[in-house]
Amino acid sequence: MTSRERFLAACRCMPTDRRPVWLMRQAGRYLPEYRALKQKHSFVEMVKTPALAAEVTLQPLRRFALDAAILFSDILVVPEALGQPYHFREEGGIAMDYALDSPEKINRLDGKNAAERLAYQADALRLVRKEMGDEKALLGFAGSPWTLAAYMVEGGSPAEQPKVAKLAKSNPALFDALMQKLARAVAECLNQQIAAGADAVQIFDSWAAMCPNENYSAWSLRWIREVIAALPPKTPVILFAKGMAQHAPALTATGAAVLSLDTSVDVAAFRKSYGTIATQGNLDPELLNGEPALVRETTKKLLEQISGPGHIVNLGHGVTPQAKIECVAALVDTVVETPCT
Ligand code: CP3
Repeated sequence: MTSRERFLAACRCMPTDRRPVWLMRQAGRYLPEYRALKQKHSFVEMVKTPALAAEVTLQPLRRFALDAAILFSDILVVPEALGQPYHFREEGGIAMDYALDSPEKINRLDGKNAAERLAYQADALRLVRKEMGDEKALLGFAGSPWTLAAYMVEGGSPAEQPKVAKLAKSNPALFDALMQKLARAVAECLNQQIAAGADAVQIFDSWAAMCPNENYSAWSLRWIREVIAALPPKTPVILFAKGMAQHAPALTATGAAVLSLDTSVDVAAFRKSYGTIATQGNLDPELLNGEPALVRETTKKLLEQISGPGHIVNLGHGVTPQAKIECVAALVDTVVETPCT
């Protein structure tokens, strides 16, 4: 079984020889070879230069026996393609160049041909596939319309009382117009990634928990469903709705094949409750800042607890800049050495 076959089988809840493994935000700052490139190029420059983006995508695969590569890019390239650029704040977090604080600014977003302005993602994916071959799975991704809107309306990393929720409540028609533009752009962006060779795509609803529980279906899931409906049905979609595992039936009703679970969820209990849904996750990212022996032990425990087909080993969120390389190796090696019984 190749890594690609193993990964796709797990997405479809079919049996595999062992669990597939990959890591979210794996190309982050913990790798010295990534930091070396960052000395010479800005983040945005690396994202927009296909040869550099392909190189960063491949870096973790040269060190670890991962089953999948995820495109090096960012969820915020979609707002940028619509006309709202972003940068990183010195003190951490994201700043958009301006906030969507008026109807004019929302109406001015240019949804036409957004995918064309993201062609660098497709070029990077093609370069990765060429260098990596067909053995491993290649993943594309995008932010959910709700999570992107949270950054865009706030003008940066959203606050605890996010402005996007106020907009959804006070001006539903304007909120809908924004979400429609976003859903279309996200779908175009993902379709372009799939056409360029992505085997599966992940949708990040990282700010799902900022949505009031009773509005989650109407304000976020409805738009995720529209995005997924616009994608080829054979391409598995992994949905990461952080903090929202309690909505599992509604999450799968979007058409997502796999639910990516954050660290707060008891995976074994979740899988018992929801039966045939494929899952991904959910080791604690902090684990990778400690000792390799503990990483091995915790990973083994996770593998023992999970029964049945359809689980992809991953973290509950991204790899942190403090992660130790020997801990990442311990995680991946433990998964690779453990057959499914
Ligand atoms: O493995 C990979 O490299 C995949 C590429 C990837 C990145 N961002 C690269 C990145 C993916 C899948 C993302 C997703 C992303 N980006 C999300 C959803 C996942 C999540 O974390 O919930 C979100 C919310 C973003 C927006 C974003 N980009 C944030 C909040 C940050 C951190 C900014 C900070 O405070 O430092 C980024 C930066 C970012 N995106 C980095 C990488 C490798 C670090 C950039 C650097 O400093 O080198």
